[in-house]
Amino acid sequence: MCPPNHFDIEYEINPWMHVDDPVSPERAAAQWEGLYHLYTKVLGWQVALIEPVPHLPDMVFTANGALVMGDRVALPRFRQPERQGETEHFAAWFRDRGFKTCVQPRHDFEGEGDALRWNDVLFAGYPWRSDKPAHAELAQFFGVEVVSLQLTDARFYHLDTALTIVDERTVALYPPAFTEASLEAVYRRVPRVVEASEADALGYGLNAVSDGHHIVLSDRAPELAATYAALGMTVHPMPISEFQKSGGGMKCLTLDVRNGGASR
Ligand code: ARG
Repeated sequence: MCPPNHFDIEYEINPWMHVDDPVSPERAAAQWEGLYHLYTKVLGWQVALIEPVPHLPDMVFTANGALVMGDRVALPRFRQPERQGETEHFAAWFRDRGFKTCVQPRHDFEGEGDALRWNDVLFAGYPWRSDKPAHAELAQFFGVEVVSLQLTDARFYHLDTALTIVDERTVALYPPAFTEASLEAVYRRVPRVVEASEADALGYGLNAVSDGHHIVLSDRAPELAATYAALGMTVHPMPISEFQKSGGGMKCLTLDVRNGGASR
């Protein structure tokens, strides 16, 4: 995670961002601290930090900073110039911690925000922020099957805004954010697909972090929370409004550097 010291809305690169709808630094800090506390003190997860950099306000969204599988790291190639300065800082973080096999795809690719691992496959989103040809690069680098999912709604511009890896049998998604063929590709593979309502998707409920037992999601997604509780999961609804002003939620604030995602 990256502390939100320099988080703000300095530019507009997705439909959620409005420079005239500024962030409350106090509320953003409290929401971020709440998440950090939940991860480390309540759930007992190990959280490593990266130093925030002035004028890289979106660096808080570490899910865009890399995709890590085992000891291999794919660095991002950000589409927007506003975020391109982040890459060298994420690259240095991994280098300093001994990750030797780091590559940067030749095509645009925005890290785990657009590439979510589910069992042996990698679901990868395009075209808003990542290019489909990047998926072939990922398949080759990581040696996994990559299933490309085409996103259709500019409000759900990263895959992790429209799809959650819940556990090894379950994925949640907002169907209208995908093409028919992409939905079909998910339904064909995943035994249980939870469909989010429009209200829950717009409440950022799909930008969630799950370890298969505990799920951390926006407190503006009550229907998803009830569904997960009924599946026997422990649900942690958290306020995330300040980051949503930037088009981000808890998943965006969290990069998984273990050996793969929730369904390892
Ligand atoms: N303001 C950021 C951007 O538009 C938000 C990034 C959200 N990250 C994510 N993984 N969905 O790039």
